Amino acid sequence: MESPFRSDILKGKVAVITGGGSGIGFEISAQFGKHGASVSIMGRRKQVLDSAVSNLQSLGIVAVGFEGDVRKQEDAKRVLESTFKRFGRIDILVNAAAGNFLVSPEDLSPNGFRTVLDIDAVGTFTMCHEALKYLKKGGLGRSSSGGGTILNISATLHYTASWYQIHVSAAKAAVDAIARNLALEWGTDYDIRVNGIAPGPIDDTPGMSKLVPKEINSKAKEYMPLYKLGKKWDIAMAALYLTSDAGKFVNGTTVIVDGGLWLSRPRH
Ligand code: HXC
Repeated sequence: MESPFRSDILKGKVAVITGGGSGIGFEISAQFGKHGASVSIMGRRKQVLDSAVSNLQSLGIVAVGFEGDVRKQEDAKRVLESTFKRFGRIDILVNAAAGNFLVSPEDLSPNGFRTVLDIDAVGTFTMCHEALKYLKKGGLGRSSSGGGTILNISATLHYTASWYQIHVSAAKAAVDAIARNLALEWGTDYDIRVNGIAPGPIDDTPGMSKLVPKEINSKAKEYMPLYKLGKKWDIAMAALYLTSDAGKFVNGTTVIVDGGLWLSRPRH
């Protein structure tokens, strides 16, 4: 689908996208590239990264991939450093890496709970923490006239409660808190905007194939206000809004992009 945004809204910007090799992270990388950014994607699987980078390059996008696990501080540091060495600046950090599986609380080991918190919540904080020196006003490769921006991919499941998702609900609640607190402190001190997007069910993503059985999927339109699943494109357009100058006065919020699903109830 054609973008409603001008193709140069991210011209000259450099974006690091964790989990950029697949799903929503990949679509954000592609749309950032199509709107003028150079993109650096980070992921754990070399094959996935390599194929994502060549797909991006075949679209004419300047893209690099770096292997790394957001759970490891040294990986976060190295990937950001390598991106800086390659491009000379970092303007945007997107935390899209996440882990998930369906499990009831009684079957979830504390280590399983911790694993998802480590990826989603601690991983997001770690990336933000290591990216600060590049993103802050007057930071490495940056003039004193403005800071960069951070975007976290969250969810809506912790607004209420979700079956078999206690670990992810806890993790995404933390992710939203990280966005708000960094928006307050780093917005004030360093001119960095920090926001989130909470996607609803999005077609053709690892989240959908892992979490939503096909029969539920086909019933979704019976209770969803917009009667369809979202597309990765919908999330990427919100990401463009939040990270470009279009969103320059938006700070500390998590934009829900779910077609109104989280507040809907079955018809009766
Ligand atoms: C119960 C499980 C489990 C499962 C893992 N564990 N899978 N418990 N059911 N299906 C437990 C293990 O038993 C172990 O605890 C602990 O978790 C760590 O497991 P590992 O396999 O060692 O972890 P690791 O190899 O690091 O894998 C991490 C992962 C994996 C999260 C488990 O699924 C992963 O890497 N996923 C990344 C990709 C992904 O999930 N993408 C989907 C994102 S979708 P014990 O006690 O046995 O040691 C998304 C949407 C969110 O995020 C919003 C939804 C609406």
